[in-house]
Amino acid sequence: MCGIVGYIGKKQAAPIILDGLSKLEYRGYDSAGMAIYDGEKINITKSVGRLKVLENLTRGGETMPGFCGIGHTRWATHGVPNDTNAHPHFNADETITVVHNGIIENYLQLRQMLADKGYRFVSDTDTEVLAHLLDYYYKGNPLEAVTKVLHRVEGSYALGILFADCPDQIFATRKDSPLIVGQSDEGCFIASDVPAILKYTRKVYYVDNQEVVRLRADHMHFYTVDEEELRKDPVTIEWDTDAAEKAGYEHFMLKEMYEQPKTVTDTLMPRIKDDDIVIEELHMTDEELAALKKIHIVACGSAYHAGVTGKYVIEGLARIPVEVDLASEFRYRDPILEEGSMVVVISQSGETADTLAALRESKARGFKVLGIVNVVGSSIAREADNVMYTWAGPEIAVATTKAYSAQLIALYLLAMKIGKVRGKIDPEAFSAMLGDLKCLPDQIEMLLNNKLKIQKFANRYVGAKDVFFIGRGIDYAISLEGSLKLKEISYIHSEAYAAGELKHGTISLIEEGTLVAAVSTQPELYAKTISNMVEVKARGAFVLAVTCEENKAIEKAADYVIYIPETNPYFANSLAIIPLQLFGYYVAVGKGCDVDKPRNLAKSVTVE
Ligand code: F6R
Repeated sequence: MCGIVGYIGKKQAAPIILDGLSKLEYRGYDSAGMAIYDGEKINITKSVGRLKVLENLTRGGETMPGFCGIGHTRWATHGVPNDTNAHPHFNADETITVVHNGIIENYLQLRQMLADKGYRFVSDTDTEVLAHLLDYYYKGNPLEAVTKVLHRVEGSYALGILFADCPDQIFATRKDSPLIVGQSDEGCFIASDVPAILKYTRKVYYVDNQEVVRLRADHMHFYTVDEEELRKDPVTIEWDTDAAEKAGYEHFMLKEMYEQPKTVTDTLMPRIKDDDIVIEELHMTDEELAALKKIHIVACGSAYHAGVTGKYVIEGLARIPVEVDLASEFRYRDPILEEGSMVVVISQSGETADTLAALRESKARGFKVLGIVNVVGSSIAREADNVMYTWAGPEIAVATTKAYSAQLIALYLLAMKIGKVRGKIDPEAFSAMLGDLKCLPDQIEMLLNNKLKIQKFANRYVGAKDVFFIGRGIDYAISLEGSLKLKEISYIHSEAYAAGELKHGTISLIEEGTLVAAVSTQPELYAKTISNMVEVKARGAFVLAVTCEENKAIEKAADYVIYIPETNPYFANSLAIIPLQLFGYYVAVGKGCDVDKPRNLAKSVTVE
């Protein structure tokens, strides 16, 4: 959701900025632009459309000389996607320019205040207010102008700012939207995410809320919002640029699906020690874990779907009540958090605005928050009391696959750990479950290798109008994610239903040939789900079943069956989701959709 890149140093800035922006395309955008200081003045080139348009307009950056600049990919919030609303935005005399990710909530008030003082606006964006407000406060000291603006604005922002008066400096700041800065021998960088600058440096600094950075070609200084200088330590990024490249795969999504065996291994194995589960990051004794009375899981999208699975697994294995909430609901519903509760927030990006707000709400009420997070150093990782990282590495495709799989593993480990310390899982069963967990990577690999069969099946459904996913219990949770995977990248309408609920209304939508994917991995529910399959088949549905090898009885009710290998039913989601991810992927590919960057979506949803 909006990407920012800035560079000041020895090299021509524009090509570096274009390259960095291309690494942020996964975040989702509809227009792109750059502002470069050419030695005399700031020039802006911007355009609606893909980054390619900006690359063509500037001949790969060649036509914009200069060693200092900022760039932006915009995901429209205020004002339609067009050239004027694209960033960067100027003040009236084109001496101050800004790129912004986030939402300025009090922009209407500020706009009115500035309009009353004679400022004129050319765009519909909230961002343009910032350029004029900086102009209003700028009296020769750029740092002072920036901090004064920060004291006036409400909302979320990551900003890159250039002042023509101080062409040897870039200013950067953030609140609740991601921003990092980095340094190399060649110059200093700002970016919304590490992959944008990883080619140039591994030395990055995570900017904290309302910190201001002044970057020069060979050094940078950090300040508080009150202009006091700060000392910060850099972090060395350990992972490789390869992790953020396609490595020969047609799409990032396919590559990331293929990384799932490794992701699962990396998230699982460091936490299994001597036939036990050790989650040091919890910083909780066995007694504290055993004393937990309730768990609240809060997340958005696929992370929420992982949470729904987590509810079934934790309640089943640890016998503790679990509530799962969509973060956007939790934050405003005045939730009842009782003594002895723990809040678990789940997020790949660690920047999702609603999840972050739910975390803060919980902390404000005095509850400890555990973050299950993928992006190291992200806002949620930094603000949670404890962090259990999912070691999925950078996920670029907008539709999550490997991070979701890693979230499931983190939740299984948590459930088993709590179940064990509460004496709800006997040692023999515990050992057998550890054995099953360790088999998951190979089993996932095997399912991935079955991709041709699924591709063939998917090709039959590229023209589908509606697809329904049904299941009970954990299978319902799997259906939620399978349905989201299909609809978000193929634009085919799809719904997930608890199998027993379908007949309370939705079954009226089933027509001759409608595809219904029935997920059935829970032995005690096999027969129940078969009944629901028969119901839809009787109304003309074509039934695809995803089930366990032992459940051959399903063939009577299904038109097409995909089997998953044997595992503990609590872990079946990790296997059943693989063919459903592949199905969504191949339908979208068959339709010619932009699989890695579906329309209207952003990878990191930093606004509510
Ligand atoms: C769907 C998807 C989204 C995210 C959701 C939460 O494929 O990726 O639904 O799961 O936006 O994002 P994070 O996990 O970054 O908080």
